Amino acid sequence: MRVRTQYACSSCGTTSAKWLGRCSGCGEWNTLVEERVGGEAPVYASSRDSVLEMAGVHGALVTGGASDWVLLDAEADASGEPGSNPQHLRRYHTGMVELDRVLGGGLVPDSFVLIGGDPGIGKSTLLLQMARGLREKQPDLKILYVSGEESVDQIRGRAHRLGVVGRKHFFLAAETQLERVFATVKELKPQVLMMDSLQTFSSGFLESAPGSVGQVREIASRLMALAKSAGISVWLVGHVTKEGSIAGPKTVEHMVDTVLYFEAEGGQTYRLLRAVKNRFGSSRELGVFEMDGEGLREVTNPSSLFLSERREPVPGTAISASLEGSRPILVELQALVATSSLAMPRRTSVGLDSARISLISAILEKHMHLPMAECDLFFNVAGGLRLSEPACDLAAAAAIWSSAEERALPADWVYIGELGLTGEIRRVAFPEVRIEEAKKLGFKTMVVPRSALDRCGKISGVRLLSIERIEELPKLYGKG
Ligand code: TYD
Ligand code: MG
Repeated sequence: MRVRTQYACSSCGTTSAKWLGRCSGCGEWNTLVEERVGGEAPVYASSRDSVLEMAGVHGALVTGGASDWVLLDAEADASGEPGSNPQHLRRYHTGMVELDRVLGGGLVPDSFVLIGGDPGIGKSTLLLQMARGLREKQPDLKILYVSGEESVDQIRGRAHRLGVVGRKHFFLAAETQLERVFATVKELKPQVLMMDSLQTFSSGFLESAPGSVGQVREIASRLMALAKSAGISVWLVGHVTKEGSIAGPKTVEHMVDTVLYFEAEGGQTYRLLRAVKNRFGSSRELGVFEMDGEGLREVTNPSSLFLSERREPVPGTAISASLEGSRPILVELQALVATSSLAMPRRTSVGLDSARISLISAILEKHMHLPMAECDLFFNVAGGLRLSEPACDLAAAAAIWSSAEERALPADWVYIGELGLTGEIRRVAFPEVRIEEAKKLGFKTMVVPRSALDRCGKISGVRLLSIERIEELPKLYGKG
């Protein structure tokens, strides 16, 4: 059957046979996206082979008849052949603790994972190192790595340098045409498919250029069908693009099971891998890596990265224990409060939401009588980490207060607590995990909400000071 394409407005849905700069329906500019119109729905096929048929001549998906179904209480297939029973969450180990944790405990066999990040951040390196780990942990696993960016020799060179051992189970292909990739998949039957990168692949069914919104969506939806129907774990690399003609990974985030972003803050050598969406685990997990001459190295104790080496007290800093997913990380918060010459004093924050900082500074003004309305406030999270947890409020308030009063706080104290608008210090999740981490790193005194004291009073070797209201902060130092 012939495959036709049409252009549909992504804002109002009006379709047109030709591409138009301006939608004739709603009048919006540049909203028309090419899509495929076959007789059959281009979503899921019903079996491994039929989805692979997409590689074939007619290109239409096989449909007709009822969907495959199973009983909820049917036993998971003990044979373990991925794809034979898509429900059971068997996991492959990637050989990297950081990556396994971000994925929610390993790689789910029929999952579709999107990994986004700036060009050059290390996405291809991460995939190749994952291939090494997967092969080491599961020697029978077949992996196909398809690159639309590099030649086979280039990938091979890099894979060797990173220590990937193939033993006839690791396949490389330099290819940009999706249908040919599907044909290769059909031939090799890999359990893991790595596609590098989204913006370089195109489907022969669409006329638009690789990287256009239409192509990017088509690629993602076809790969999703492949992952689900053939039980292949598909990894798709997507370069984050500055607004332009190339569509970024955001365009397809909603289609995939797991979205990971790989990022580096401010020219640092370490890399943060964040899950922003995960159907198979927590979406708040954070993995930390460092890029060196031998590729990516896992950083198993990231607190050391985000604390400065200096140990003598200076005004304007306080340490907090933030929980990134399941892992506690100690971070140093820094504030600089200076008299402003502006009618509207400046509030600048790096690493913590500016609105949150404005709110904390207003609370300090109201309840601790700091003259914040006449002061500029600059705020920074050391090491370039981005925090989103309210549990860091207390430390942020302590740092701001310390700078405003020009009074250095003890260097071995940690502050944990959320700040309420009325000045009360609210409970935080998992105080014991945070306290244990701080203790491990040699901190002796922790300022915590009342509820944490009740919960964690028995932890030995640390002194817990409870605080109920922000006004009590100065008094605590009398006890130090
Ligand atoms: P790459 O994985 O190609 O990035 P992406 O796929 O996200 O575009 O990583 C490229 C950068 O990593 C490049 O600047 C060189 C650096 N690098 C190292 O520093 N050490 C290494 O061992 C490798 C393989 C790369
Ligand atoms: Mg790359």
